[in-house]
Amino acid sequence: MNPLDVCVAHQQPSRGIQPSRSPIHTTVAYVCDDPDHADAILGGQQSGFCYQRDGHPNANSLRELCEKLHQPDQATHPTVATITSSGMAAMTLAVVSMLKSGDHVLLSNRLYGKTTTLIVQQCQKFGIAASEVDIFDVDALRAAFQTNTRMLVAETISNPQLRVADIPVLSEISRSHNALLLIDNTFATPIVCQPLQWGADLVLESITKFMNGHGDVMLGMLAGRKDLLEGIDKISSTWGLVASPFDCWLAERGMMTLALRMQQAGKNALAVAEYLASQEAVAKVNYPGLSTHVDRQIAERLFCTLDNEICFANMVSFDLPGGADTAATCIRRSPIPFCASLGEMSTTLSHPASTSHRLLNSSQLSELDISEGTIRLSIGCESRELLVNHLRQTLFGLDS
Ligand SMILES: Cc1ncc(COP(=O)(O)O)c(C=O)c1O
Repeated sequence: MNPLDVCVAHQQPSRGIQPSRSPIHTTVAYVCDDPDHADAILGGQQSGFCYQRDGHPNANSLRELCEKLHQPDQATHPTVATITSSGMAAMTLAVVSMLKSGDHVLLSNRLYGKTTTLIVQQCQKFGIAASEVDIFDVDALRAAFQTNTRMLVAETISNPQLRVADIPVLSEISRSHNALLLIDNTFATPIVCQPLQWGADLVLESITKFMNGHGDVMLGMLAGRKDLLEGIDKISSTWGLVASPFDCWLAERGMMTLALRMQQAGKNALAVAEYLASQEAVAKVNYPGLSTHVDRQIAERLFCTLDNEICFANMVSFDLPGGADTAATCIRRSPIPFCASLGEMSTTLSHPASTSHRLLNSSQLSELDISEGTIRLSIGCESRELLVNHLRQTLFGLDS
């Protein structure tokens, strides 16, 4: 089914009986008929709800939409998704449900910083070891697996260089080492890439970003094969990682337009990347849709086609040769808001060296091809004319 239809037609109310949009179920507790009824619901033998932390209708509805988007063929490949209170809660849930003391985790060296901190620093307290590896160096990746490596973690599209992980290759390598592959698909969303279809065992998204798309909700999602995620809601409830009904309701409303927004933002991002690439003031442009991007062929293979065109998602980054001072000057005068998040309806910009990557020293930054002059754009759904006009103002005077 076309993802546009999956998003828009997710709710099918019965005439004269149901409201046309799902209500918000704020109640903490649900009334049961008798102890047998409560026991059957809590034991999972009967559908229903007892206590909000164990599950509620708004999380269920959002979860079902995520399942359909990540695995359209539910009959052959039963897939389960669970909604958490943030993207980091989804990562915490993946770790606490899949790993135990004595295990080792391999991390891409380009992950979102808090993911690395969670797994390297926090998990160490529980006897879980971790090391980082360049997932684009296949020999180094194979060599980095240890006998106790249980999980490889990578992002579909990395920040801010927008490198595209070759998920089938990562899947083949992690399978051959009996390790699970967990893909953070936040920058891609299931509209652009469905990692489970390419061999990932688990997929995670920060719904906070483009999935919800309106900058007003923090939520996360973890999905995977049904057999792997059996009992995941109980673990989430026990660790207190669950999401509120209101946030789920808002996100479901936001996701109704996910495919539409991604289609528009993806077209805009390509136009912006082409405009920036034509500017002498810009040293380098990173966008997986540009023929010059190092991972363009991987993106062509793994990314989905919308409206007869491959969608390469909405993130673009570029380097200004003048470094930190030039970047600061441009950011101060830019009509595009400087906002250390991403994935909203309107375009925002960020400066990785002073925000997401501020704890890295200059040699660590250059190892990841990030400079003090790197600016990251999260492209929104404005008109292309407005965007190019805003970028013209941002770069004004740099050529002279
Ligand atoms: C790629 C990526 N994964 C996970 C997260 C964490 O998501 P949240 O902020 O919803 O906890 C972020 C947040 O910026 C992110 O950029």
